[in-house]
Formats: sequence, C-alpha cells, structure tokens
Amino acid sequence: DTTPKKCMAVAAHGIRTVGVIGSGQMGLGIAYVAALRARVPVLLHDRSEAQLKKGLAFMDKLLDKDVTKGKISAEDAKETRGRVTVISAEKGLAGMRDADMVIEAVSEKLSLKEAIFKELSAKVSADTILATNTSSISITKIAAATIPEGQTASSSEGSKSASRVVGLHFFNPVPVMKLVEIISALQTSTDTLDRARNFAVACGKEVTTSQDVPGFVSNALLMPFINEAIMCLEKVGASFVIQRYIIVTSCLIEQGVATRDDIDKTLKLGMNHPMGPLQLADFIGLDTCLAIQQTLYNGTSDSKYRPSVLLERMVDAQWLGKKSGKGFYDYD
Ligand code: CAA
Repeated sequence: DTTPKKCMAVAAHGIRTVGVIGSGQMGLGIAYVAALRARVPVLLHDRSEAQLKKGLAFMDKLLDKDVTKGKISAEDAKETRGRVTVISAEKGLAGMRDADMVIEAVSEKLSLKEAIFKELSAKVSADTILATNTSSISITKIAAATIPEGQTASSSEGSKSASRVVGLHFFNPVPVMKLVEIISALQTSTDTLDRARNFAVACGKEVTTSQDVPGFVSNALLMPFINEAIMCLEKVGASFVIQRYIIVTSCLIEQGVATRDDIDKTLKLGMNHPMGPLQLADFIGLDTCLAIQQTLYNGTSDSKYRPSVLLERMVDAQWLGKKSGKGFYDYD
C-alpha cells in the first residue's frame, strides 16, 4: 500500500505529511525522527532502490533497539514504521505531491540540489515547504532554482516559489543529536521559517538560527577546526617521510606539530570534546568534509577554509572514513 496514512490532528507546523528525499544516513535519520517524534506520515524517496532498502533496514534496527531498551513500546514501533511510505525511483519526485513539506537530504552537490528543487517546485503544491538539509550550500542559491521554467523571479509565482524554501540542517546521527540549525534564504517567508521551526521542535530538536553564510554557524566553526587538525597531521606526515630519506633538520622537526592520536587526545581531554576532530571527520565522511570546505573556500575566498592537500588525497583514494572502513582511523 503506497497511500500515506492521513494524519490525526494538525499540529502548529501544519505539516500533515512530510517528504524526505535521500535515504542515506541523514535522510533516514530525518525520516525516523519525523515518524517517531513528530508522528507524521513520511514519504521516503531515493533514486537508488538499494539505498532505500538499506535505509529501511537501518530504521527497523533502530526501532527494534528502542523496543528492546524499553524506550518505546512494540506498538509504537509498529505505528512508526507504518507511517513510512516508500516512494520508488520509478515514481520519482511526483510521488511527493501530497507532502506539506519536503526535506531534501541528498549529497552536497549544488547542481543535484538545484535540479531537485526545480523539479519539486513544479510537481508539488504551491504551499508545500521545500527544505534542504545542506550543511554548507547557499539556501538563497537553492531557492533561486525553484523558479519553474518560463517564469521570472519577479513574477508572483516565481517569488512565491522561492519564499517557501528554507534550510533545515540536522546533525549526524539525527536520532541522537539534539540540534537543528535553521537558515533563512533571502527569499524565505516568515511563515515558512515559523513552520519549519515548529516542525523541528516537533521532531524533538532544539533550534538555532543562522544567516545564509557559507557553512552557516556550525560548519563555519567546525570545518576550520577540523581542517587545522588535518594540517597539523599533514605537517607531521611530511616530516616522517622526509625523516626516512634525508637528514632531519631542526627546521623540519619544528614543522611536526603532533600525531593523529595526540591531536584528537588534546581536544578530547584538553577541551572536553566527546571525540577529536580527526575521528569526528571520519564519522562525518571525509568526502562530505571536503565538499563543505570547498563550498566555504569558494564562498569566502578566505584561505583559512582551504582544504588540506592530505584531505583531498584521502578522498582521491576513497578513504572516506567510517563508512568506507578507512580514514584517519581503520574500522572493521
Ligand atoms: N544512528 C542512530 N542512532 C545512533 C547512531 C546512528 N548512526 N549511532 C549511535 N546511535 C545511538 C545508539 O543506538 C545509542 O542509542 P541508545 O542510547 O538508545 O542506546 C546512542 O546513540 C549511543 O550510542 P553508543 O552507546 O554506541 O555510544 P557512542 O559512544 O558510540 O556514541 C554518539 C554515539 C553520541 C553518536 C557519538 O558517536 C558521537 O558523539 N558522535 C559525534 C556526534 C557529532 O558531534 N555530530 C556532529 C557532526 S557535525 C554534523 O553533523 C554537521 C555537519 O554539517 C557536518
């Protein structure tokens, strides 16, 4: 049965059905909190059937664990799972027609997001909120892509289309992390912003707001921190290589700032972070870190955001962190 169950009472956010595009670690997490916490029917779409299957299997695992731990009842788990309807690749974005809000959570690629928002704006109702879970790309730019062909930004339909776009930035892993960062595009209406905020709260999240600057507050802070840590490691790596082949000069020793373990340990024990920046980068995914850093660097031209060469090489090697089994650390 692919018909979403109609919702009970309409909450303050007015979202009776939410659509989620992308069933990777972020999209699946968003679908999970929407179904379990906000208790709304979810239309889950991914263009890859394999990814959809993987996502749903993970949701089942999370629900089973919550039941085993006594956090929710077996009935609650069943109802939650029943709220999730799969929208197949074949059905495509047209399957989002009944959603009052669609949250896009695909990879960090502007052209991909632009294509999705353009198509969505033509396929869903004019009142549907279009949210993006991007961690760094300009919401204003994504909003501009919603204007359907043949219309201009100055036409009333064109400007209405962009005014319902908003950034809804969840943190990984979504079921665990308490925060959602909300970002208003230049075009976003107050109504869109208020409803998006209410929806995030209904999903059990605390909310902060950020201007539409590259990386928003979170990644404008986090990425230089991660990047500086990688640069420290890069210098140490270089000095190790050179140590092997050339007589080590005092100058090169000075460049060796710290080892991987000491960089992470400093932040963990010295600043009370639950995990160090290199381990966190592995958890986020090194390809995602690189994509975000490139957006920050391109958006600001500020050299402090320049991705380190080591990070680029690791992504070249497909050492993507936890998800690929190898990053700064090795995983089973
Ligand atoms: N999805 C859902 N739940 C998960 C999960 C996942 N991927 N990973 C762990 N959990 C749940 C576990 O099921 C467990 O739940 P219960 O309490 O119900 O049992 C709980 O988290 C704790 O898990 P563990 O006991 O295995 O504990 P842990 O020591 O591995 O901690 C963690 C898990 C708290 C998530 C820890 O790994 C952590 O702190 N990670 C870093 C989180 C973080 O800083 N995220 C922000 C990244 S930045 C970002 O997302 C923004 C961006 O734009 C890049």
